[in-house]
Amino acid sequence: MNYAIGNENAGSQSVGLAEIYSPIESHMLAVDKLLKEQIASASVPIAQRLAASGLASGKRIRPAMLLLAGGCFSDLKKTHVAAAAALELVHVATLVHDDVLDKADERRHEPSLNSLCDNSTAILTGDYLFSKSFEVACATGSLESVHQIAQSSCDVCEGEIRQNLATGNFELSQADYFEIISMKTARLCRVACGIGGVLSECETTTIQKLEKFGEDLGMAFQIIDDVLDIVGTEQRVGKTLGTDLSSKKMTLPMIHCLSEYESLGKREELLSKLKAGITAEQALDCLRETHSITFAREVARGHANAALNFTSELKESQFSTALKQLAEFVLSRTH
Ligand code: IPE
Ligand code: IPE
Ligand code: MG
Ligand code: MG
Repeated sequence: MNYAIGNENAGSQSVGLAEIYSPIESHMLAVDKLLKEQIASASVPIAQRLAASGLASGKRIRPAMLLLAGGCFSDLKKTHVAAAAALELVHVATLVHDDVLDKADERRHEPSLNSLCDNSTAILTGDYLFSKSFEVACATGSLESVHQIAQSSCDVCEGEIRQNLATGNFELSQADYFEIISMKTARLCRVACGIGGVLSECETTTIQKLEKFGEDLGMAFQIIDDVLDIVGTEQRVGKTLGTDLSSKKMTLPMIHCLSEYESLGKREELLSKLKAGITAEQALDCLRETHSITFAREVARGHANAALNFTSELKESQFSTALKQLAEFVLSRTH
């Protein structure tokens, strides 16, 4: 499979996804096969739209986390594959809905589903994917995994609802932002790593450490995503960018900039620009002045370092090495 990959992170030391995924290559192919079967089993109009959307691609970070976490502790089984596919289906469902909310027309280098049909059909297709995920999750035969997948789906939705309610709230605090991204993004990563441990029959304390690892990686992942929304290139990232600022959603760089501008006596001026609709160029000038992109990257680095601390406790194996590399990838990614 092509994960839109390579060691293409300019100036970084990180390894590309294909190499990181090499210990789980056959299991990732099995996840892919299971996902394709889910599309094929849908009725014709749904299957056609899903096939035309980016379901067959994406970085597949969450399935990889689950398989790598599990692989650190036991041989990987069909149950790991089913859980990994179920989590990816939840993720894709949230992307389909998210693109409606953000009015985004590109996803995974393809037209988004809402741009291929209409918002109502896209929302219903997202619902269909959520429902499919539970069917696939049941194939794990693990009530604990099904429970975790269901709970994390609720949390992602709650995170997205909270973010939606915070639209236009330029007073959003860093604490509120961290809570939103913990729910909308880090939760699935947390559960991915935890379920890897559950299905590999790890002890509770190990599962808890795996969950914390996933949470930290997920936080770093979303902070970098929010940085890319401002400084990334659409051609490289393969999705519509700039939607956070254009839809008046405050993310870490701008929250930091606003607080720095307070002490510079420029906060009110920036608030007026944000309310009126700031251009990407104006925003970048402000963010540069306060080094807010660098600040956000440092916060992401803090989470990745916490994740790396855990990997240093793991017995050395190709799986634990890959988890370390994944933490570095998350920080330096450009897509
Ligand atoms: C995008 O996730 C949405 C976020 C949570 C930031 P990914 O960057 O993992 O998207 P795909 O699966 O590779 O398309
Ligand atoms: C969405 O966050 C995360 C989800 C839970 C879907 P974003 O809105 O930042 O994701 P992208 O940038 O559209 O992928
Ligand atoms: Mg979005
Ligand atoms: Mg984003």
